[in-house]
Amino acid sequence: MPRSSSSARRSTAAASLSRRVLCLDDFEPLARARLPRALFEYIRGGAEDGSSVRANRQQFHRWAFLPATLRNTAERHTRVQLFDTEWAAPFGIAPMGGCGLAAYRADLAMAAAAARAQVPHVLSGASLVTLEKVIQVNPHTWFQAYLVPDPAGQTALLDRVAAAGYRTLVITTDVPVPGYREADLRNGYTSPLRPSAQLAFDALRHPRWLCGSFARTWAREGAPHFENFDARQRIPVLSRRAPTRSHRRDAMDWTHIERLRAVWPYRLVLKGLLDANDVTRARTLGADGVWISNHGGRQLDGAVTPLQVLAHCVAAAQGLPVICDSGFRRGSDILKALALGTDFVFIGRPMLYAVAAAGEAGVSHAIALLQAEMLRGLALLGARHCNEVAERVVPAT
Ligand SMILES: Cc1cc2nc3c(=O)[nH]c(=O)nc-3n(C[C@H](O)[C@H](O)[C@H](O)COP(=O)(O)O)c2cc1C
Repeated sequence: MPRSSSSARRSTAAASLSRRVLCLDDFEPLARARLPRALFEYIRGGAEDGSSVRANRQQFHRWAFLPATLRNTAERHTRVQLFDTEWAAPFGIAPMGGCGLAAYRADLAMAAAAARAQVPHVLSGASLVTLEKVIQVNPHTWFQAYLVPDPAGQTALLDRVAAAGYRTLVITTDVPVPGYREADLRNGYTSPLRPSAQLAFDALRHPRWLCGSFARTWAREGAPHFENFDARQRIPVLSRRAPTRSHRRDAMDWTHIERLRAVWPYRLVLKGLLDANDVTRARTLGADGVWISNHGGRQLDGAVTPLQVLAHCVAAAQGLPVICDSGFRRGSDILKALALGTDFVFIGRPMLYAVAAAGEAGVSHAIALLQAEMLRGLALLGARHCNEVAERVVPAT
C-alpha cells in the first residue's frame, strides 16, 4: 500500500478511536465484544474471589493529591530517565502471555506502538512470536522470563535472549504455582488450549476475532506456539493432550537468582516482589531494579497492593530503581505512585484490550491517553515534571 494511503488510513482509525475511547477503561467493552468469552475472561480475571483485583483499583482512593497552585507549568513534560534510557513517559507495557491469541501479531503491534511513543514494552516469556522478531521491531524491548528449573535450560534461554540483543531481563518471581482462576476452568480455558465444543461455539459467536485474528494468524504464521519459554523447543498452544508443561516453580529459591545473576551480564529486574525484605535480598544479590506487583491480582488472592507496601520497598531499595504495576488505569494513578516513590509504572490488561480492539492504533491511542492525562495532572498539581510530584499526596481520610 502506498505510504500516503496507509498513513491516511491510520489517521482515520485514530480519529475514530479518539471519539469512542476517552480513557483506558473504554477499551474493555470493545475487547469484550470482540473476543471469545473464554479468552476475554482469561485476560480480565483474577485469582479466586478477585479481591486483589478490586483492591488494586481501590488502592488509589487511599491517597489524595495535595496540589500546589500558581506555579508556572507551561513547560511541563513527562520524560523520565530509567536505567540508562530517557523515556517519553514513566510507564510502559507489562509482559502478558498469550497476547497473540487476542489479536493478530499482538506482541509486534505493542512493540511497535511502544517504540513510536518511546516507552518500554516487555515481551512475555509466554509469547507466541519469536523474541528475535520482536526486537527487530523495537530494539528497546525488554524480555520477561520465568526461572527454569534445570541450569542448562536456563543458560540456553539466556544465551538466546542475549544473542537476540535484549539488554533488560525481567524475571517473574511470583508464579511458584499458577493462581487458581475459576473462570478459566468454567470457560474451558486451559494451557495448552484443549479444543472442545464449548470453545468452538464460543469462537463461532465471535466471527471478527475468528477471521481477523485466529484464522489470519493460522494462515499467515502457522499453528500458534509458545516460542520463547525454552531455547530448545516450541510448545503448541492448541493440543488435545493434557498439559506437558507445568508452571510449577515451587522448588526455586534465591540461589537460582544468584546463579542467574552470575551468567546474565546485562540488566536484571525482579518482578513480583511485595515484601521489603525481598527487595533487600534482590538488591544485595545484584538486581538492577525491583518490580513491585501482585501480578494484577492473578496469583495470590488477598495479597497486598503495591501502594500499600511501596514506601517500605522504596526504603529497602536504597536508590535502586523501583517499578510497580497492578491496577493502574489513569495518569493520576501513575502520579500518585510517583509521589509515593516509585520510579516507573507498567500497565497490563488495558494494553491487551487496546490491541484486541484496534491493533497497533489502539495501543498508540492508549499510550497517548495516559500521557495526556499525566500532562494535565502535572499542571493541576503545580508540577512541571515527574520529579516535582514527590510527596504531593496525603492519606485520604
Ligand atoms: C492476560 C495476562 C497475561 C499475563 N502474563 C504474564 C506473563 O506472562 N508474565 C508476567 O510476568 N506477568 C504476566 N501478567 C501480569 C502482568 O505483567 C502485570 O503484572 C499485570 O497485568 C498488571 O496488572 P494490570 O493488568 O491490572 O495492569 C499477565 C497479565 C495478564 C492480564
